[in-house]
Amino acid sequence: MKGVILAGGLGSRLRPLTKVTNKHLLPVYDRPMIFYPIETLCKAGIQDIMIVTGGNSAGDFLRLLGNGREFGLKDIYYTYQEGEGGIADALKLCEHFAEGQRIVVILGDNILQDDITPYVRRFLDQDSGARILLKEVPDPERFGVPELDGERIVRIEEKPARPKSSYAVTGIYMYDRRVFDFCRRLKPSERNELEITDVNNAYIKEGDLFYDVLAGWWTDAGQFESLHLASNLVAEERRKKPVSA
Ligand code: G1P
Repeated sequence: MKGVILAGGLGSRLRPLTKVTNKHLLPVYDRPMIFYPIETLCKAGIQDIMIVTGGNSAGDFLRLLGNGREFGLKDIYYTYQEGEGGIADALKLCEHFAEGQRIVVILGDNILQDDITPYVRRFLDQDSGARILLKEVPDPERFGVPELDGERIVRIEEKPARPKSSYAVTGIYMYDRRVFDFCRRLKPSERNELEITDVNNAYIKEGDLFYDVLAGWWTDAGQFESLHLASNLVAEERRKKPVSA
């Protein structure tokens, strides 16, 4: 199985921090943000990783990460997203890399406590389809929000004014090869982006979207408050379990 980290965009919600650099190179406590999604994938045994970058300082990813040896990887693959087409637009660039295999996609600003290995195993046990990870949050209106009917997700709404549940759809998505067909059929949303939520809704229509609820903490780091929170959560982890530099 292959992994994709989406680390493009202009990070406009973090200006002026992102005026000259890429959001995913900013510090989260003691590491650049991009280290965390790489570690999340590595811990789950995913060795083939594509980083989709874009916007400012794209070349700095290469300087920072090189060929990924620091993470025990043989190679890291990089590609570049022109413009601000959205998450699903960035994902389209990975079709060739995926080679028809299943993929785990993680947004470069998503930081979590859990080892995702058990969720990835459950995905591999599925015959087909997609698997997403949910987390209960105090501010669901900032995220994709699932509408649940019993145990089933009937629809996901992107940043709804009146959320139908208190869950966020986190930025960790597992897809079979059909994801690229769904991406191709998307129409731009009101914010003129190809939305990952529409991809997930396409899987729901096919009756092929499954989910787990994350056990540990999770946050994005794309706004001042959540970036600050992410640093605090990681600092707390380090106090419990120091790492060598
Ligand atoms: C994106 C997705 C949203 C998801 C979130 C998780 O939002 O569109 O559905 O809940 O990531 O971090 P964005 O960060 O693009 O606003």
